[in-house]
Parts: sequence; C-alpha cells; structure tokens
Amino acid sequence: MKTVLLKVEPENPDLTKIQVAADIIRSGGLVAFPTETVYGLGADALNPEAVAALFEAKKRPLDNPPIIHVANVHAIDALVEEVPQKARLLIERFWPGPLTLIFKRSTKVPSLTTAGLDTIAIRIPNHKVALALINQSQRPIAAPSANLAGKPSPTTAQHVCEDLGGRIDIIIDGGATKIGVESTVVDLSVDPPLLLRPGGTSFETLKRALGSLELHPFVDAEEELTLQQIRSPGMKHKHYAPKAEVILVEGNIEATVIKIKELSESYKHKGFKVGILATDQTQEAYTTDVVRSLGSRFNIVSVAQNLFRLLREVDALGVDVIITESVPSEGLGLAVMNRLRKASGYHIIKAG
Ligand code: TXA
Ligand code: MG
Repeated sequence: MKTVLLKVEPENPDLTKIQVAADIIRSGGLVAFPTETVYGLGADALNPEAVAALFEAKKRPLDNPPIIHVANVHAIDALVEEVPQKARLLIERFWPGPLTLIFKRSTKVPSLTTAGLDTIAIRIPNHKVALALINQSQRPIAAPSANLAGKPSPTTAQHVCEDLGGRIDIIIDGGATKIGVESTVVDLSVDPPLLLRPGGTSFETLKRALGSLELHPFVDAEEELTLQQIRSPGMKHKHYAPKAEVILVEGNIEATVIKIKELSESYKHKGFKVGILATDQTQEAYTTDVVRSLGSRFNIVSVAQNLFRLLREVDALGVDVIITESVPSEGLGLAVMNRLRKASGYHIIKAG
C-alpha cells in the first residue's frame, strides 16, 4: 500500500485536504492525524472491519482497546450507557483536552472496538486538524497512538511514517504535537474515580476538581504488575521501548550524575555504544558520544515534549544502551516518569 502524506497548517487546516482523509475514514480506511498529545491512527469506530485493520496495521494485541475520539459532547450519548455526574464535571472543565474518560459502554458499539470490555474510553482532542477530521467524517474515530505496538508514541508525522509508512492510507502532517505525552486516562465507571494512566492533564488538577481521585498502583509502579492488579489492558503490554536497552537512574541529581558516569564507563568498557538522556542542567557533565538534553529540569512541559522524540532519535543512532535521568513525579512529571519506567522495562537504578 502507498501511504499518502497530506501537509496542512495545524491552526488553519485546508478543509478540502481534510475531506480527502474524512472520505477514507468513511470508507473504512486508516488515517494518521495530529492531536495535541501525540499522533493518533484513526479508523471509523463503528465499522468493525476498519477497526480490525487498525489493530493489524499497528500489530496491536486485540485485547487492548483504542480511545474513541469525538468532536462534541453530544456524540458520546450514542456510545455510552450513562454519563455520571462526575464525568459531566470533568467534561465541562477539561474537554476538549488531554483527558480520556472511561464509561460503561453502549451495546451499539462493536465489541471489537472495545476489545470485548463493557467499558469504553472517550475523549475530545484539542486540535483543529483532529476536530475537522472527526466533523467531516461524521464518525466517532477510534485512534490509538500511531506507532507500532510497543514503540514510543509519535510526536511528528515523520515518526508515524517510520513505523506505519506503507501500512496505512494517509498521514496528515500537522507539525509536531504540543504536549508530547498521551492523554490522562480516568475510569469513571467506578467510584471513587481511578486514574489509570497519567498524561497531559495532571493528577493534582483532576483531584482538586473531583475531590477524591485514586491513583492506580500501575501509575507509579517500579516493577511489573501482577495480573490481578491490571485494570487497563494497556498495563500488561510492553511499551515505549526503543531497540536499545534503557536504564533509568533515579535519585538526587548529584548522585544521579555520578551513577550515570559510572554506568556509562562500565558499559563502554564492555564495548557497548552508550547514549545518555540528560537535562539542560547536567548535560555538560557527560562525555559520552551521544548525549541529549530532555530540556530544563525547571520546565517539565518541555521534557514531556521532547521525551518520545529523543528516545527515537538516540535509538536511531544505533546505541546499545540508553541511560536516562529522572525528573520529579509532580504535574506532568508523573506521566514522564511512568513512560520512562515502562520504556526501561523497570530497569531502574537508585542513586543516592
Ligand atoms: O493522547 C492520547 O490518548 C492518544 C491520542 C491519539 O489521543 N491516544 C492513545 O491511545 O494514547 P492508546 O490506544 O495508545 O492508549 C489508550 C489507552 C491504553 O492504555 C488502553 O489500554 C486504555 O487506554 N483503554 C482503552 N479503553 C479502555 C477501557 N475501556 N478501560 C481501561 N483502559 C482502556
Ligand atoms: Mg499507545
């Protein structure tokens, strides 16, 4: 299959180009498109064949359902059993935006779309291109992140092309995404609500809005969960993993720098090529061939923006090991640390 690349202005997309992509969605095809978080791979959520093709293109396990993207609140009525009061509150404050809510699902949604679960994940993205695509296709769009299963999520059309070029119909290129990590996933089919995946909307902000909100143990887990603990299918699959082995060093910054230098020396000694993910404040301290800064330690927003891109970039340089610093688990930092821990397969070394 030849994948067509459509370039659009993110703030002012050419609606005739979007219509070409919308027609592909309507006829059961696959379209990658930008959202404010990461690129998504879209298919008509109500067309089981299209959704099957979506799983196939991503090589995604069939038990891991995608998020359904809609363009306005009324569109959720056809997809859910009920909208609890707490959901209304969150919808009012945070949609459109990087927040996915889990509802009890309507039986009208094909069971393939929800991977056989009795719940459904929905969000309204805050991006003109995504909203235009949903509006013009007049369909709810099932869209997991547009990467091959297990790889870091794509924050540019180029990343999508690397993973899915030749496997999907269209990539809409609307430039780099703003947030860089995926949406926060909150389960409202239980009470108190449960945060299943940290992301672009912080736990602290959501907890303030809701009064009570629990964190699933997975969110800040430092090791693989047991099957009984799993609440979201995504928790049990390998994630965000580059080809290289990833080692995450956690601890105070002085001790971290010392530990990373030590590790890097010992890996180089063994003949391995080492890449280091540092921060603006520490990158000068390292002398390895490949050192990249995730951004300033005082600006976690930029760290989140750079994270998946740098994992891909450093990996592409053919390093054997990527050693990375950690950031404080506050605000967006919780999402960054969750991704880094998963990317490392929980290979975490404590420094100081
Ligand atoms: O920012 C995002 O959320 C991006 C953009 C494209 O919108 N999408 C995204 O989708 O990250 P995906 O499929 O890569 O991640 C969806 C997560 C998975 O961890 C999945 O297991 C979980 O949401 N999920 C989906 N349906 C669920 C459900 N009914 N109950 C619990 N978790 C669910
Ligand atoms: Mg994903």
